Amino acid sequence: MSNEHSRRLRAASTPRRARLDDTNRLARLLTKSFLNDPVMDWLARSGPERLSGLEAFFFWFLYERAIPAREAWMSDDGSACAIWLPPGIAAWPSGIFEQLKLLPLILQMCGFWRIVRGAGISGELERAHPREMHFYLSFMAVDPAFQGMGLGSAILGATLRRIDQAGMPAYLENSNPRNAPLYERGGFVAQKNILPDDVPPLISMLRKARGNGWEREVSSGYQSCL
Ligand SMILES: CC(C)(COP(=O)(O)OP(=O)(O)OC[C@H]1O[C@@H](n2cnc3c(N)ncnc32)[C@H](O)[C@@H]1OP(=O)(O)O)[C@@H](O)C(=O)NCCC(=O)NCCS
Repeated sequence: MSNEHSRRLRAASTPRRARLDDTNRLARLLTKSFLNDPVMDWLARSGPERLSGLEAFFFWFLYERAIPAREAWMSDDGSACAIWLPPGIAAWPSGIFEQLKLLPLILQMCGFWRIVRGAGISGELERAHPREMHFYLSFMAVDPAFQGMGLGSAILGATLRRIDQAGMPAYLENSNPRNAPLYERGGFVAQKNILPDDVPPLISMLRKARGNGWEREVSSGYQSCL
């Protein structure tokens, strides 16, 4: 293993919380990693506008929702990230006014026809979540130049260990069949396909609560324990 690889692996195994001034860097990392993701490929507009549409969406998501919720983790060198949302924080705002404000952003990412085609997905996503309190892995990415070298497993393992300290379940939607072995090794079990059969599958996966749950007693008025 080269020195550079072991440095990157160490950074992914000891991630730090993302800060608001990391937003640009993380939005670019997520964009290049998800550019050819099968579900994104179906959802986001095609052509050169996909890049700017995805980047604008990820910037909004990180800056407005994920980073303030304090469970967005990254390796300090910026090559890997695991963007968790803590219990009680939804990926999307629920108020109609807030949702309307997002329309230009969604239009930029998907274009009109793909919005029509994908209408209803956010409701399906919401309904597929476990009813019990859980951590939600909204996005995870490794720089394409370093994929398949263990960084994703390292940052997933590090953040799951912390979730185990809270004794909480973890949940995600897998948008790429290629990722299934990675998540299964992490202890996730496939639940069901959330999308219709004629589009790329999006598989909900649940990892039951583990660990001693030493902070479970604070979970009713949940405060971040990570
Ligand atoms: C998924 C991802 C975060 C995994 O990180 P990684 O560092 O490549 O993964 P690791 O090297 O630790 O583990 C390898 C496992 O990752 C998965 N994997 C997904 N894409 C991969 C790729 N391009 N190269 C290698 N492994 C990949 C496989 O399950 C693989 O297991 P296998 O070797 O038994 O087939 C990363 O590949 C990525 O950013 N992919 C694009 C974005 C994405 O799919 N995000 C998750 C959406 S649910």
